[in-house]
Amino acid sequence: MSRPRVKAPIRTLRDVHRPAILRHLLDLGEDDRYLRFGYAAHDGQIRRYVAGLRFDCDEVFGIFNWRMQLIAMAHLAYMIEGMGQHTAEFGVSVSGHARGRGFGNQLFARAVRHARNEGVRKLVIHALTENAAMLAIARKGGATVERDGPESQALLVLPPADFESNVTELMDEQLARSQYYIKLGRHRVRRWWRRLAGWGQLMVRRRPGS
Ligand SMILES: CC(C)(COP(=O)(O)OP(=O)(O)OC[C@H]1O[C@@H](n2cnc3c(N)ncnc32)[C@H](O)[C@@H]1OP(=O)(O)O)[C@@H](O)C(=O)NCCC(=O)NCCS
Repeated sequence: MSRPRVKAPIRTLRDVHRPAILRHLLDLGEDDRYLRFGYAAHDGQIRRYVAGLRFDCDEVFGIFNWRMQLIAMAHLAYMIEGMGQHTAEFGVSVSGHARGRGFGNQLFARAVRHARNEGVRKLVIHALTENAAMLAIARKGGATVERDGPESQALLVLPPADFESNVTELMDEQLARSQYYIKLGRHRVRRWWRRLAGWGQLMVRRRPGS
């Protein structure tokens, strides 16, 4: 049964989000790590990958739930090819419990729009041929997929940026950031309430005669 699809608030991630990114990736099972990185990345390799993320050069996008857990993320890594042609590589992961809601598709669409606005002309996705979900997202987004045995490469030639792509990205980012801070505020208030409740119970237990 397909799950309801809602527009997710996708925001750009920064250095401060490294711990959330690490938790999200470490939570991926062995098979998912294999699909995401092309090899069964162990914890140490994931830690190195996260430590090496270059937020000043590349772009990382994420979706947080109400518990402020990062449940989906995408990494757009820029490469300059010969003749100065700008190319970017797209990688994505969605937590197991959040799949099938369109987050993968939406992160792809967001990355495509951002890449266009940054003047990127080609988007590349390296995926294992068995990765039907990733290849479905790429095809749906207009990419052509070339299969080379167990590995496939999806290629999407991007149209230049226009007014619509710039305004839409700006608005999406603003909306996602406001939702992020609302979630963060609610999360902190709930944490304080839980702590207060804990202290309250401790005081009652310590009261002589109680
Ligand atoms: C690939 C991945 C990101 C998809 O995330 P998701 O949020 O479930 O993706 P969506 O819900 O947006 O859509 C998935 C699409 O794949 C399709 N799909 C899923 N499983 C499929 C399968 N076995 N065969 C064919 N299509 C499949 C879905 O029907 C959907 O297509 P639709 O939009 O036309 O309905 C997620 O499965 C994941 O994190 N996998 C592990 C990491 C990985 O493989 N990363 C990609 C390599 S970079």
